Amino acid sequence: MAIQIRKLTKHIGAEISGIDITKPLDDAAFAPILDAFNENSVLVFHDQDLSDDQQVAFSQHFGALETTVQSNVGGGTYIANISNVDPETDKILPVDDWRIVYNSGNEMWHTDSSFKPVPALASLLTGREVPPEGAETEFGSMRAAYAVMSPEEQARLEGLIAVHDFTYSRGLVDPNLLNEEHRNETPPVHQAVVRTNPTNGKKSFYTASHASHIIGWPVEEGRAFLKDLVARATQPEFTYSHKWQAKDLVIWDNRCVLHRGRSWDKARYRRVMHRTTVAGDGPTAPPA
Ligand code: OGA
Ligand code: MN
Repeated sequence: MAIQIRKLTKHIGAEISGIDITKPLDDAAFAPILDAFNENSVLVFHDQDLSDDQQVAFSQHFGALETTVQSNVGGGTYIANISNVDPETDKILPVDDWRIVYNSGNEMWHTDSSFKPVPALASLLTGREVPPEGAETEFGSMRAAYAVMSPEEQARLEGLIAVHDFTYSRGLVDPNLLNEEHRNETPPVHQAVVRTNPTNGKKSFYTASHASHIIGWPVEEGRAFLKDLVARATQPEFTYSHKWQAKDLVIWDNRCVLHRGRSWDKARYRRVMHRTTVAGDGPTAPPA
């Protein structure tokens, strides 16, 4: 049976229906999903009651998975638990618990793992328990924002390399959040400012909360420039806001979209999300 694809906005996002992804899929069944991913940058599936193992199995169709380094509220080898619930006690964590503060870094516009030498290709997030209000995940298309730039603006981006630094971005949340060990785990890395989707040749700029500055430019100038790119990609016409229902799966293309989580009443409502992350296939720039 053919899947149905319904665009959610003009530039970003599509809802996929007519498929049960809790079941094993063969390559022929996966191919149209991969095409839709490369075309729409964000895919939404409803009513997929996935176990962790099923989520991992489906995610592996996109490629090898990242292992979780900092799954601070528990998880597994491949599952990052993005949650305000203590896995030990099953109680809501206090809002000033460092794990909650740490995860609030996800409320800045970012793209996953851009602070790693090989940044993530895709992320797959499932809503296990979702609050009745707030906690939307928003997406902004860097590809669509790139496409409307003038040829001169596009040419200016060509060949630029940005420094992405987890210590810098989490420092914006709280300068004392990361200890020495955390900082040593994530030294600054280099990322290309322009990326091309190898399957369709579509170009995009590439930045994130983790992007600190541009190599060869004065730090403040590069920072302001990167901030402007974020502002362009997150204009309403280039964004999609996902209002979660339990059993939703949302997949995004980290090469060309920014995303952020919106806040919610964290003292009142439980939110438990499981993420798998598909590794990229190589560095985007020569190593730092
Ligand atoms: C993530 C992320 C935002 C959210 O899982 O990578 O940024 O809404 N999540 O939970
Ligand atoms: Mn994220």
